[in-house]
Amino acid sequence: MTHIILREKDVPNIRELDVYLANEGFDGLKKAVSMKPSEVIDEMKRSNLRGRGGAGFPTGIKWSFIPQSEPVKYVVVNADESETGTFKDRQIMENNPYQMIEGALICAYAIQATAVYIYLRGEFWDIAHDLDERIEAARAQNLVGDDILGSGYSCEVYTHLGAGAYICGEESALLNSLEGLLGQPRVRPPFPAQKGGGLYKEPTVVNNVETLANAPYILRVGGEKFAELGTQQSTGTKVICVSGHVNKPGNYELEMGKHTFRDLIFEMAGGIPDGKGIKAILPSGGSGPIVPATDEVLDTKLTYEDCQSIDTILGSASVMILDETVDITWAASKMTKFFKHESCGKCTPCREGTFWLDKVIDRILRGEGKRSDVELINNVAANMQGTTLCALGDFAANPILATIRHFPEDFYAHVDGDDEKAPVKAAGD
Ligand SMILES: Cc1cc2nc3c(=O)[nH]c(=O)nc-3n(C[C@H](O)[C@H](O)[C@H](O)COP(=O)(O)O)c2cc1C
Ligand code: SF4
Repeated sequence: MTHIILREKDVPNIRELDVYLANEGFDGLKKAVSMKPSEVIDEMKRSNLRGRGGAGFPTGIKWSFIPQSEPVKYVVVNADESETGTFKDRQIMENNPYQMIEGALICAYAIQATAVYIYLRGEFWDIAHDLDERIEAARAQNLVGDDILGSGYSCEVYTHLGAGAYICGEESALLNSLEGLLGQPRVRPPFPAQKGGGLYKEPTVVNNVETLANAPYILRVGGEKFAELGTQQSTGTKVICVSGHVNKPGNYELEMGKHTFRDLIFEMAGGIPDGKGIKAILPSGGSGPIVPATDEVLDTKLTYEDCQSIDTILGSASVMILDETVDITWAASKMTKFFKHESCGKCTPCREGTFWLDKVIDRILRGEGKRSDVELINNVAANMQGTTLCALGDFAANPILATIRHFPEDFYAHVDGDDEKAPVKAAGD
């Protein structure tokens, strides 16, 4: 398969502007500025591209929410890449940066934005400096700034570094951070696309790096052609980040719906080290529900809808593999510590819930817990779901609810059975 996103695998040095331009670079933007902004949005709608940042929201529809009558509008590129096990946006920005810049400018033209802000996590300072140089190189070719490509449309592109907090990947916390405020999620509505809800209160599109990097290809070949790739609900390709117990961790760009978890793990990622068995898969890092590596799961196709059918999510596709030696209680504890640390503290169920989950699971791991403690953490996690201001509260509940549902024996192995409670039932059973 030729790559749409990881094009450096087919075209060496595509990160250089001359090479990018010689390989259809900025042809998508050229096409876009020859169209009406609303036609660009229609093209994106026809592609049925879904956002690659995690939630899978249809991109063209998101762009269409921006009120055209407002004079000031913004595009924000979410380059926070904070999800556990995700490392695709970094590779895109390092190896094919102009495609993201071009995609952001296509979005900017479509909504008639005045500026693009690329928000990068603080640890990406080197990438931010590199992008700054590339933006200037693009400006010298009349691709950024005033009167882009002689179209009469002008747009600035800026980079901005965060300070490295997971919650600043959440779009409204990101906007706060970009404005110099505390990086905490905002109460919605108003949503970022609405007046009052976006950057500096102006209507704003927030899109992930990979999402925007698809736009140049969609404009070049047309939305319908793009939609021929993948399935009806999961069009195009997806960059899958594979990590954990595999021989060849890394980013793999695959056409959606053409491959299963089994293909990904055993063919592309080289299988499990030392010939060990596979115990579980986290298809979307720590934030999505874990699934046991049964034949049914391994034969599940990599699409949004197929992952849903096995009670998990594809999310931003950070697939983490756990081999047969992993104690799932230990894994749940690691994930819980992460969410406890990253909870911004704004709402009570998440702030208090992550604290207590961590405390009780530590007790269980120390061998000082009871069977009822397993039920306790299950109940705490269930009560966090759907009660928080942003999705981090739900994410933090998943490592407990799904691990107890699928691997109760791993939890009970740590408790001494000194109370009479019946084995816990997973929430929702
Ligand atoms: C706690 C949390 C962390 C998130 N982190 C990221 C992130 O690092 N990168 C990202 O693109 N989206 C992240 N998101 C999703 C964004 O809020 C938003 O949905 C996304 O940037 C929209 O872009 P898309 O439509 O292109 O997917 C996060 C969401 C939550 C709740
Ligand atoms: S759910 Fe957690 S991270 Fe999100 S706003 Fe509430 S306290 Fe902050």
